[in-house]
Amino acid sequence: MSNYSFYISADGSPGLYSNDFGDIYHSVKGALTESIEKFVYPINFDMLLRYDEIKILDICYGIGYNTKSFLNFLKNNQKKFLKIKNSHASCSEPIHTDKIFVNNSDTNIGTIYTDKNFKNDSQESIESVYTNNIKSNHLHAKNKNFDKLFSSIYIKALDNDDILPYLSPLLKSKVKNNIEKYNLPDKSLEKYFKYKNMAKIKINDEINYLLLTKLVNSVKNSPNADKILQIAAKNQDIFDKSFISLFKSLLYYPEYKSSLRRFISNLHNIYYRYISNRYKKAVKDLKIGDISLDLEIDDARTSILRDNNTYNLIFLDAFSPSKCPCLWSYEFFNELFRILDTNGMIITYSTSALVRSAMREAGFFIGNSINTSGNVVGTVAVKNKSLIKFDLSEADLGLLNTRAGIFYRDKNLNGQNEAIINAHNEEVKSSDRMSTTCYLKEVKRRNNV
Ligand SMILES: C[S@@+](CC[C@H](N)C(=O)[O-])C[C@H]1O[C@@H](n2cnc3c(N)ncnc32)[C@H](O)[C@@H]1O
Repeated sequence: MSNYSFYISADGSPGLYSNDFGDIYHSVKGALTESIEKFVYPINFDMLLRYDEIKILDICYGIGYNTKSFLNFLKNNQKKFLKIKNSHASCSEPIHTDKIFVNNSDTNIGTIYTDKNFKNDSQESIESVYTNNIKSNHLHAKNKNFDKLFSSIYIKALDNDDILPYLSPLLKSKVKNNIEKYNLPDKSLEKYFKYKNMAKIKINDEINYLLLTKLVNSVKNSPNADKILQIAAKNQDIFDKSFISLFKSLLYYPEYKSSLRRFISNLHNIYYRYISNRYKKAVKDLKIGDISLDLEIDDARTSILRDNNTYNLIFLDAFSPSKCPCLWSYEFFNELFRILDTNGMIITYSTSALVRSAMREAGFFIGNSINTSGNVVGTVAVKNKSLIKFDLSEADLGLLNTRAGIFYRDKNLNGQNEAIINAHNEEVKSSDRMSTTCYLKEVKRRNNV
């Protein structure tokens, strides 16, 4: 591990290349864009906002894009979320804004549906709901946490790399995309850099700051702290100097560690004061009572086997199934079924038939994730079928019954990747299922008739 190189992806966010796997960790088209499209857009906020305390499991945390994008999204879209509850006994459900993804622009404030507003399906702007109802006490805050989206967010982050997660908050949130300046790990990646108009997205410093303060305690006594600083120092284009200094100070000046406030007031540096204000603003903007981050450096299977939490969201971002089959097996999804809330959702970028059939076999309902351009970019797995927005097509469902749908097995959840692949190849070879090529030809023929 820790044998990786950094590059700048096409949207200006830093990405990683694994020299061991010969594979990228993030899409060269945009590491951050990918994480928003594949892991944040598919979330069913309709359901998530009904919960006051949520738990998120980020499997294969790496440099934490999925968690960061989720928090960033909450921050940037806070105006579009509103949790209120009708004071009438007949409506006990929290009410929240809807249609937040219509065009994701600041002008789209979102609409709110209430049974207090009497006409079925009536839509009102948030402002008018405030004016007409909250001020006149027809609606009242759900509780004293009225202005909070969630009273707590617990994030469990899993990865078996003992360096990457700590580097995460030190990364620049955006780097000017400049192909001449940065050496790409692979010449063939150059074609992606024709996208000159980078998306106008970045991880807010406040989110990085928040994660840094959560992570620093778990690394302070480990030799990794020095390694992390060395890696950051070697890649100055990619890492944020101010965050590196902040990390150093938090690590090496224990007298300041006990109190962040004292630490900040003791540093005669405008930058930190600025950051501190932004932090307070972030916590306020995020409308979250408390955020905790619990990082476990271990094989994700081992961590999950001893985990008795129930999660509202699970991000599954392992290397591709053929590279890391141990995190895509039927037995692994069985474990995820055990720890997913009845109204929870697993979100992954993979659209592979063998992943989907393993999910289905473990008891999940599965659906597509669709990006803003209408393309399928991943899969969601749920226990409550009504949470699925985009069903799989008949053709995709049929594919699961062909050889392509024969899933990986890892009976005791401790198999080596190579052994899992070999056993799978044997099973496919001896299977009497229809071959995938024949099936696809058949589908094509049917479509042409
Ligand atoms: C595609 S990358 C994930 C990228 C990540 N979500 C991010 O935002 O940077 C896959 C990650 O899986 C981790 N990994 C590989 N095998 C693992 C295992 N058995 N258990 C836990 N993590 C593993 C790698 O260290 C790597 O960080």
